[in-house]
Amino acid sequence: MEKHIEQIRDEAFRELNATSDPERIKELSVRYLGRKGAITQFLRNISGLPPEERPEAGRRANEVKKELDAAVKSALETAESGAPAAEDRIDVSLPGRTPPRGHLHPLTRITREICDIFTRLGFDVAEGPEVESDYYNFEALNIPKNHPARDMQDTFYISDNIVLRTQTSPMQIRVMEKSAPPVRIIAPGKVYRCDSDLTHTPMFHQVEGLLVDEKVSFGDLKGILTTFVHQIFDPETSLRFRPSFFPFTEPSAEVDILCVMCRGKGCRVCSHTGWLEVLGSGMVHPAVFENVGYDTGRYTGFAFGMGVERIAMLKYGIDDIRKYFENDFRFLRQF
Ligand code: PHE
Repeated sequence: MEKHIEQIRDEAFRELNATSDPERIKELSVRYLGRKGAITQFLRNISGLPPEERPEAGRRANEVKKELDAAVKSALETAESGAPAAEDRIDVSLPGRTPPRGHLHPLTRITREICDIFTRLGFDVAEGPEVESDYYNFEALNIPKNHPARDMQDTFYISDNIVLRTQTSPMQIRVMEKSAPPVRIIAPGKVYRCDSDLTHTPMFHQVEGLLVDEKVSFGDLKGILTTFVHQIFDPETSLRFRPSFFPFTEPSAEVDILCVMCRGKGCRVCSHTGWLEVLGSGMVHPAVFENVGYDTGRYTGFAFGMGVERIAMLKYGIDDIRKYFENDFRFLRQF
């Protein structure tokens, strides 16, 4: 008789495991557990067994009944919860989907390229605060209060004496205050000016350069900047030094490069002049050296500052600076 209940159990589970159709599971449950079901029937017939077999057969039948009842309930739950059919299940042996990989922003790339060129020429990289004091941003750079040169740069004031730096030039002062000559640094970073159009954004990036030593001449300035332009653009890009004015350099020069689009013939990008302005430069003004306690009789130096967006626009042929900051993947993916 005991064998019989085991047989019923085996058949019931074989049937249950073969289906995930809720209707068939319910029907099977009736056939085994219902009032006239096989297990119920078995329990009812126990009285016909020899007395010594009855307790064990009853215990086992009740056990099977409970077991099957639980299995039926859980099978029904799975079947009705919309669990994925076999063909929809995940095949863990397949190779995974490659997650999209990002890359450096074009401005980060150009900044690094600029820094790489100058580090190869022996310059160190220095970084400093974007929220700057009036002293470092203007005063120490020979731009006193009420000096008309302050109007050259539309300043964001935090308070009377604190500004968002309008240029990376304050790094010249910060570096010279901390170290004696010789000095050879570049300082990349964000700068801010209240200005916004096709070629200006309120925040943009500059790279400042400063070299101070004995016997540094304007020829050294020309040599370093020529090497730089030939490396960032190409050796065919000629330079032109145009007299200019900055309060912290004397003499000062604006550096133009031969238009990278038309090679000097004249086009829309260079406003038909054949030349493009790329950086400001000059020999460090003695007043600046005095502000940091350098011996003006012994040391001379040159400084320069360039806009990273401008260089990147020329290199990549981009005509609207705002594209760099819109975070449009269709634009950024191209670099
Ligand atoms: N700081 C100047 C500007 O932002 C550029 C510059 C730097 C000029 C160093 C001369 C020397 O316009």
